[in-house]
Amino acid sequence: MLEGMPVAPARAFARDVLLAVEQRAAYAADMLHGRPARELSPEDLRLATELVMGVLRWRGQLDYVLERAARRKVEAMAPLARVALRLGAYQLRFLTRVPAQAAVHQSVEIAKAEGPHLGGFVNAVLRHLPREPLAALLGAEADLGRRREAEFSHPAWLLERWSRNFSPQAADAVAEYDNQPPPVAIRRAAAAVGTEGAAALGPAPVEGVELAPGRILRSAQRVVAGDVTKTAAYRRRALWVQDEASQLIPWLLEPLPGERILDACAAPGGKAAWLRAAAPGGLLVALERHEYRARLLRRRVPGAAVVVGDAGRLPLAGGFDAILLDAPCTGTGTLARNPEIRWRLRPEDPARLAQLQLALLRSTAAALRPRGRLLYSVCSIEPEEGEDVVAAALAADPRLERLPAATVLARLAHAGALTVAATALTAGDDLRLLPGALGTDGFFAALLRRRA
Ligand SMILES: C[S@@+](CC[C@H](N)C(=O)[O-])C[C@H]1O[C@@H](n2cnc3c(N)ncnc32)[C@H](O)[C@@H]1O
Repeated sequence: MLEGMPVAPARAFARDVLLAVEQRAAYAADMLHGRPARELSPEDLRLATELVMGVLRWRGQLDYVLERAARRKVEAMAPLARVALRLGAYQLRFLTRVPAQAAVHQSVEIAKAEGPHLGGFVNAVLRHLPREPLAALLGAEADLGRRREAEFSHPAWLLERWSRNFSPQAADAVAEYDNQPPPVAIRRAAAAVGTEGAAALGPAPVEGVELAPGRILRSAQRVVAGDVTKTAAYRRRALWVQDEASQLIPWLLEPLPGERILDACAAPGGKAAWLRAAAPGGLLVALERHEYRARLLRRRVPGAAVVVGDAGRLPLAGGFDAILLDAPCTGTGTLARNPEIRWRLRPEDPARLAQLQLALLRSTAAALRPRGRLLYSVCSIEPEEGEDVVAAALAADPRLERLPAATVLARLAHAGALTVAATALTAGDDLRLLPGALGTDGFFAALLRRRA
């Protein structure tokens, strides 16, 4: 009955996104919010999102069961076979509402685009896919790394490094959080500044969206149900969708009206927009290396002076009162939002990025006025990109000193801006949040000052 049925729109789109993620290093979340996605019906987009994010999150487990059936490494297969098999295996093992026959048939149709033999191969593997629960399959698995990779669906080296750097329990908790859809938080543009925030505005329902209070910030709200991106308030930029930890970061700079502020790695602009509102009457320079990303800043952060350039060779005169360096990083704090990153990263990446981060930190710090503050932040949880970069910058430049971010957080808590104790957000002097510990992305931030 299914014979000859074409690939349905949701699965065809999921296939295209997964291929783009594999072959062009595209980001699934961007594609699922892009123009072609908007041409799908809401139901198809929901299914495509579930399939894409499910496959990317559970790839470690899917490949384990597929390799049992295929007796070959999934990584060694043709890209279209990999995508068709993972889509099929995800539906067969994780989705109860899709009939098995339909899931297999659709994957075969996807693979057949590259010839009947590939369709036959995908059909054979999916029909032999183990149906037992994972625990039963892993019973005979002697390789501990493979076991953990299958169970937690993260590369074994990443799980090992988190166990070492934090604890085995913390590593498991981070991986479990990464495998669920993360909460959606919003920030109202009107509640950008001041500790009264959203609470003082009341629950102020955004049409068709159910909201709950923020988990760490009084000015934040969480989406319980509904799609804020479909609302008029979102379209007229009265609210931003932004993870709560990311919302909190610029607060640590304690910007003052009239200050000259540099956001050195500014796009897409969530933190720049807050800084612009928090320091009226001053200057906000929003620097961004890539022109196509700078365009986002011009649209989203009116009033900022947008400059395209390299923060490693500042194309600007110095003398800034405050600088935010929200540096490019491995992004290991955001794997729930960007599940593909975990499969792209290599063990040498944290150290490689740390060199770039140190160069950016040293170059931007040189643009501070005496007693000016610099906030260094990354959405990575790797110490090489956090504490180690800051220690290296302090060792290399005696004009810099550390200011305890913990003291600023205590001040914010005292003023009522936080909904948790400041100590829940810190490790020593710095801000350190693990993904999911407080229902947010993982972040590191340290505050520095140039001596007088
Ligand atoms: C972590 S993101 C910043 C996020 C941003 N602060 C926000 O809150 O929306 C890092 C940004 O820095 C940009 N970037 C990377 N290297 C850069 C450099 N050398 N100079 C300036 N910008 C850079 C990237 O293109 C990216 O847009």
